[in-house]
Amino acid sequence: MKTRLLVLLLGIVTTVPLAAADAAAPAALLNRGRYLVEGVGLCADCHSPRNEKGEFVTAHWLRGAPIGFTPAVPMPVWAPVAPPIAGLPSMTAEQAVKFLMEGTRPDGSMPRPPMPAYRVNEEDARAMVAYLKSLGDAPAVGAQP
Ligand code: HEC
Repeated sequence: MKTRLLVLLLGIVTTVPLAAADAAAPAALLNRGRYLVEGVGLCADCHSPRNEKGEFVTAHWLRGAPIGFTPAVPMPVWAPVAPPIAGLPSMTAEQAVKFLMEGTRPDGSMPRPPMPAYRVNEEDARAMVAYLKSLGDAPAVGAQP
């Protein structure tokens, strides 16, 4: 009887903090992902549209934008548009993690410049992908509100 009570008490003591930590994990992961996307990767520089004053249109945050500059020297390939990455509509979470770690798309191809070839570690990639996926599906590039 005493043993059972002890097991029960131990169960309560050990599961309560663990459950609390689990509930907190997604928020911490999303915050880290947001920090890496907004503060380190500066993904919005290319993937978010701007208004005529050059300010971000926050209603279309990370929902794709035309690239506002051209290369000074001829480039064999160049992408004039950065696609939407809010919700990462073109990839599953696992494919996007691989893309940020290795720079390859699901079909093995590399994105054209000026998309930088990021080589982040798995932990950072998972946080970035969790944040981007949390932004939901994006409308097509150029879609009006
Ligand atoms: C300097 C501009 C620039 C920056 C900064 C940038 N991107 Fe891109 N990104 C592009 C362009 C342009 C493309 C389209 C490439 C193509 O069409 O081949 C692209 C493509 C992508 C794709 C789509 C790949 C596909 O084919 O489906 C993803 C995902 C992506 N970027 C994620 C990011 C993330 C995450 C960041 C920040 C960590 C980021 N990008 C920062 C310009 C940029």
